[in-house]
Amino acid sequence: MTTEDPRILELRRMRAKALEGGGADRIKKQKAKGKQTARERIELLLDPGTFNEIEPFITHSEDELNLLTETYYGDGVVTGYGQINGRTVYLYSQDFTIYGGTLSEMQSHKICRVMDLAVRNGVPFISLIDSGGARIQEGVRSMGGYAEIFRRNAQYSGVIPQIAVMLGPCAGGAAYSPALQDLVIMVEKTSFMFLTGPEVIKAVTGEVIDAEALGGSDVHTSVSGVAHFSVKSEKDALDLVRDFLSYLPSNNVENPPYIKPTDDPAFMDDELNSIVPIDPSEPYIMHDVIEKIVDQGSFLEFQANWARNAIVGLARIGGYSVGVVGQEPAIMAGVIDIDAADKMTRFVRMCDCFNIPLVTFVDSPGFLPGIAQEHGGIIRHGAKLLYAYSEATVPKVCIITRKAYGGAYVVMSSKYLGTDVTCAWPSAEIAVLGAEGAANILFKKQIEEAADPAAERAKLASEYRERFNNPFNAASTGYVDDIIEPRESRPKIIASLSALRDKYAPAPPRKHGNIPV
Ligand code: HXC
Repeated sequence: MTTEDPRILELRRMRAKALEGGGADRIKKQKAKGKQTARERIELLLDPGTFNEIEPFITHSEDELNLLTETYYGDGVVTGYGQINGRTVYLYSQDFTIYGGTLSEMQSHKICRVMDLAVRNGVPFISLIDSGGARIQEGVRSMGGYAEIFRRNAQYSGVIPQIAVMLGPCAGGAAYSPALQDLVIMVEKTSFMFLTGPEVIKAVTGEVIDAEALGGSDVHTSVSGVAHFSVKSEKDALDLVRDFLSYLPSNNVENPPYIKPTDDPAFMDDELNSIVPIDPSEPYIMHDVIEKIVDQGSFLEFQANWARNAIVGLARIGGYSVGVVGQEPAIMAGVIDIDAADKMTRFVRMCDCFNIPLVTFVDSPGFLPGIAQEHGGIIRHGAKLLYAYSEATVPKVCIITRKAYGGAYVVMSSKYLGTDVTCAWPSAEIAVLGAEGAANILFKKQIEEAADPAAERAKLASEYRERFNNPFNAASTGYVDDIIEPRESRPKIIASLSALRDKYAPAPPRKHGNIPV
């Protein structure tokens, strides 16, 4: 009988030790909070058996003050690579059972290593975050470690997809790494994001609030807009990562994957022809329009509970990924306010960096009037949207379903912002102002002096509507390319995108633009 090489036995012992994380008691505590371990999360995310770990034996750096009493293999983070639907990804998963998953100098070193490998190989990078933030015992070294990560998040932005999944606390400056990534997913009740926690807020401002109300998933998906999705469980969050990646290329020089559609590219839904009410003040649901045009069940809406007057999301049409942008006329009449402009801008830019064509559905009375909006900088925020559409070089198709008044016509992917195909439905109203508003300004004197001002206003508004609030005027002057029946939208978009597949639209050389943030 041969005896085992003691060096191999030692390796096995070390490996087993690394798998223990912070020990059985802390794993029990983690489970009691309804959370999985760092390694279980990786197993749930990746294709079975594809995970390869990197640097499992790293331990914390030398600690002059002797504050780090225990040493653990891995130093609170598991890093490596594996596959999602057969495509390689790099990732890290913080281990809350080791010093609360906090960021140390060596943890930062490990995370930066996988980030660098991801960008070098042109594949997505995924952060599974569960951390108390900067490791207090390591002082400035942990803060420097964050800076190393943030710099890479910024420099690799638009090169490879970066996804942050919040699976526990995310305190302090740690919140900035997710905020720099393309997608932020939070799990209800167990994940929190804030720069300063409840205790600090109480001490500084006297305000009393708990962690959930301050930075829980509801807050960040409906009030702040920091996160894109709130999901019920860790499994839902990890499934969503897999789904999201199915729409994206692995890097900015690849095209998104094609997935053979189950429904006919030539299919026309006749219900679309009666979806827009005859009365222009009656709402309808733009989500229904989108669902009837894209491949069945493919619409993945982002930030569905924030700035609901705007709609953004990924979908497939004829099997190809598209970014859908639009207004929801059923919410605030689809007006564009500060949050809606921010939401659409960020999404348009994400699609453009990853070669995902944009399909825009317009129904908006324009920018939201009001002192709060003007003082809040609606000019600056609206300008971002103009900037984003103008700089986007991906194929752009725009369908005006109803209102495209003033600023809304211009900023929402209008023809002369560089949109490749612009179509209007017969219900489209393309004008500088709504008919009543325009009549009030153009014929102020005439209305005031009339025997019956209200009747005069109605008559003049009706004449204006006849003349301008329809797509025929815009089509006759070339401001839209075509007028189509609503049911023709799907085949029209598919044909347009097919013709634009090899679009070449180089931008003038520059270091980078100066978007009005
Ligand atoms: C070192 C930490 C730690 C930290 C938690 N731990 N936070 N160790 N540095 N920042 C340790 C705890 O001592 C404990 O160790 C273990 O992690 C689990 O923590 P608990 O408090 O028992 O867990 P829980 O009750 O779930 O609370 C988790 C928590 C809380 C909400 C994260 O621990 C917390 O508020 N921590 C401090 C958060 C924070 O202020 N971080 C710094 C932010 S400033 P044991 O041994 O008992 O298991 C920052 C600057 C970044 O990040 C700058 C970049 C720009």
